Amino acid sequence: MANQRIDDGLVEVIKGCERLVVLTGAGVSAGSGVPTFRDALEGLWAKYDPMELATPEAFGRDAKLVSEWYDMRRLKVLGCEPNEGHGAIVGMEKLMKERGGMFKLLTQNVDRLHQRAGSEDVVELHGSLLVWRDVENGEEVLCDGKEKLPSYPWVRDGDERDGRLMRPGVVWFGEMLPEWAVMEANEAVSELGEKDVFMSVGTSGVVYPAAGYVDEARCKGAVTVEVNLERTPISDFVDRCLLGKSEEILVELLERVKG
Ligand code: OAD
Repeated sequence: MANQRIDDGLVEVIKGCERLVVLTGAGVSAGSGVPTFRDALEGLWAKYDPMELATPEAFGRDAKLVSEWYDMRRLKVLGCEPNEGHGAIVGMEKLMKERGGMFKLLTQNVDRLHQRAGSEDVVELHGSLLVWRDVENGEEVLCDGKEKLPSYPWVRDGDERDGRLMRPGVVWFGEMLPEWAVMEANEAVSELGEKDVFMSVGTSGVVYPAAGYVDEARCKGAVTVEVNLERTPISDFVDRCLLGKSEEILVELLERVKG
């Protein structure tokens, strides 16, 4: 079984690595009050049916309902603040860049809390709740205001007959991930080598392609680290499985790497 504590060996590997790739999931934002997806009681998919809300077909059937639900989530995350785990990831990016190393943050999160914490190099694999997109021409609009959208569904410059229907800028089930994001993620993972580090933080590791990155990193010889409240399908084959809250473990890890 993988080591479950931060050990000197891991600290030294991170201190000396040339490349550090961090993949995050909803668990990183749990400490900020953003619900995860698969928590048995509080997770979004325990309360809502993703097929009724998170597919293109659902939007086609009931654009009002889907838009309202995503706007509710948008307003929720705008009312949350980044936590110390987000901050520690910013610290790791700074450390790596100061010493001329490569750092890449791949996130499945759509809440933009990494960016609000100060992360610069973020690849949003599943899009963002704060960006809405014209269904016809793909034009994107940043929606970071704390008031509700003007209408559900949101139709710009006209009414439902001649206006422009806007949709949330997230990836729905059955949709492709943004091409640029997949390319950047693939490149970052494929460049990993021995002595480099891949960290999977706060994700259940069941949604592809993100779930496959840890496997690829391992095949490249990188040291693989998982940080999660509980064991997941990847726990058995990572080099280190650090169990606990990411907002605590990442802070401790950063302190030891800096120390
Ligand atoms: P999940 O809800 O599947 O998993 C969240 C993970 O975070 C679980 O493994 C928890 O144990 C862990 N966790 C919870 N609190 C934590 C904490 N404080 N510190 C560390 N870990 C904690 O969320 P994701 O893995 O992000 O996709 O889900 C992946 C994708 O599935 C999402 O992007 C979303 C969802 O369906 C789409 O909507 C397309």
